[in-house]
Amino acid sequence: MSAPATERDAVGVFSPGRARILARTLRRDRWWLAPLLTIAGLAAFVIYATIRSFVRTAYYSAEYHYLSPFYSPCLSESCVPGASHFGTPFPELPMWIPLAFLSLPFLLGFRLTCYYYRKAYYRSVWLSPPACAVAEPHSRYTGETRLPLIIQNSHRYFFYAAVIISVINTYDAVIAFHGADGGFGFGLGNVILVGNVLLLWTYTISCHSCRHVTGGRLKHFSKHPVRYRIWTQVSKLNTRHMQFAWITLGTLVLTDFYIMLVASDTISDLRFVG
Ligand code: FES
Repeated sequence: MSAPATERDAVGVFSPGRARILARTLRRDRWWLAPLLTIAGLAAFVIYATIRSFVRTAYYSAEYHYLSPFYSPCLSESCVPGASHFGTPFPELPMWIPLAFLSLPFLLGFRLTCYYYRKAYYRSVWLSPPACAVAEPHSRYTGETRLPLIIQNSHRYFFYAAVIISVINTYDAVIAFHGADGGFGFGLGNVILVGNVLLLWTYTISCHSCRHVTGGRLKHFSKHPVRYRIWTQVSKLNTRHMQFAWITLGTLVLTDFYIMLVASDTISDLRFVG
C-alpha cells in the first residue's frame, strides 16, 4: 500500500513540475489485470519448475531416450542410467542440489535478466510502476545503477551460456529419435521435444543481446552486408520476444510434463515409427 501522496517525498510522480494529483491513478479501466495475470503466470512456472527440478523422478524415459529439459545436462552419478548424455564427471549429489545444477543457474540468470522479464516483474512484482499512469508505491528510484539491479547488465553473458545450453537441448532432442528396439524411431515425444527446442532457439535468438552481437558496434551497415542481413532477421524476431518468452515457459512445462507421464508409465508414448 503506498503512503498518502501528501506525506511522500517530492520525487517521482510527486516531483515539482508534475501535476498535483492526489489519487493514485485516474484510470478507470482494469489496469491491474495485466500485472495480476503476469505474476500468476510467472509464479505458476516457478513453482512447477522448482518442484520438478528437485523431485528426481520420471525425468527420463529409458525406452525412448526422452530427457526432460529440467534435467539437462545430467552429469552426476545420481542420474538414472542413460540420462547422462555427456557422461558423469560429478559424483552423487545430495537431494538439495538439482541434477541440472550446471545449467539451471544460467537459465535462471538468462530469464531473470531478460529485458522482457524485467519489464514483467518490475511492473507486476515491484509495482515500479504497476501500469502507465499509475503511481508506484516506492518513493525512490535508483534504476539499475547499483547492487543488486546492476547485475542486470550481465545479460549478454547469460546469453552466451543460453546458446550453449540450447545446443545441449538440441543434442538431447536429436538422440531421442530412438525406437523401443534400439533403432530409429519417433513418436509424439519427439515432436514435443523438437518443437520445444525450436522455440527455445527462437526465444534465444530473438534476445536483445543477440541483436547487439549480430549488428552492434558497426559504423556502416553497408560495409557488413552479411551481419546487416542477420541483424535484420534477428530484429524481426525481436519484435515478438515477449510472445516467445511466454510460449517457451509453456513448452518447457509441456515437454517435462509429457516426459514425466511417459517415464512414469502413466501413459504410453504415441509412436509413429519404431
Ligand atoms: Fe530476453 Fe535477452 S533473453 S532480452
